[in-house]
Amino acid sequence: MDLYIDTANLDEIKQANDMGVLDGVTTNPSLIAKEKTDYTRRLAEICEVVDGPVSAEVIATDFEGMMKEGRQRAKIADNIVVKLPSTLAGLKACKAFTSEGIRTNLTLCFQPLQALLVAKAGAFLVSPFIGRLDDVGEEGMELIRRIRTIYDNYGYETKLLAASIRHPMHIVDCALAGADVVTVPFSVIQQMMKHPLTDSGLEKFVADYKKAFGG
Ligand code: E4P
Repeated sequence: MDLYIDTANLDEIKQANDMGVLDGVTTNPSLIAKEKTDYTRRLAEICEVVDGPVSAEVIATDFEGMMKEGRQRAKIADNIVVKLPSTLAGLKACKAFTSEGIRTNLTLCFQPLQALLVAKAGAFLVSPFIGRLDDVGEEGMELIRRIRTIYDNYGYETKLLAASIRHPMHIVDCALAGADVVTVPFSVIQQMMKHPLTDSGLEKFVADYKKAFGG
């Protein structure tokens, strides 16, 4: 399973990249806005740090606007993936970008039929939002399982990227369900390597060593 970081914060991206386990980055307009910097410049800076796919979202909601912005985003770097909304206009833009050889990530996916259509349109990634479904009393993980089954039934090549991850158990469940990619906030990536028994066990090993051998 590929691991992307879900942030536009350069320091977090560099730290995660230094861990040696980072396969890509997802951004969205809200994440870049938080950084209070130029939108395009920040995307270019991220692409300088990470070799893997970097999702860059369009702001336009109409087909022509998405095509114009998407082409601009794609010129930033070779590893840019144009992020489009899972709407009818987004679907049309996905098909057009795919035929031009530009990779897309269809975001804000909340039901299996959106995922079915974006796979047919040739998307590189589809982004179902687990956490936001949980927030409104639906089971986000069920969406991941349903999309996995549909994609496997028909051999669709679109990668299933689980987004809106809120805690480590989301990642365990995504791995068990066969998600191709998870995109994870930095704080949750850090939590993935934490266990209280690791910390207390390590503390005891060091204390026992010092008692027996000094130092
Ligand atoms: C990533 O592509 C999504 O934009 C992101 O995971 C959304 O997460 P949120 O629901 O925590 O905002």
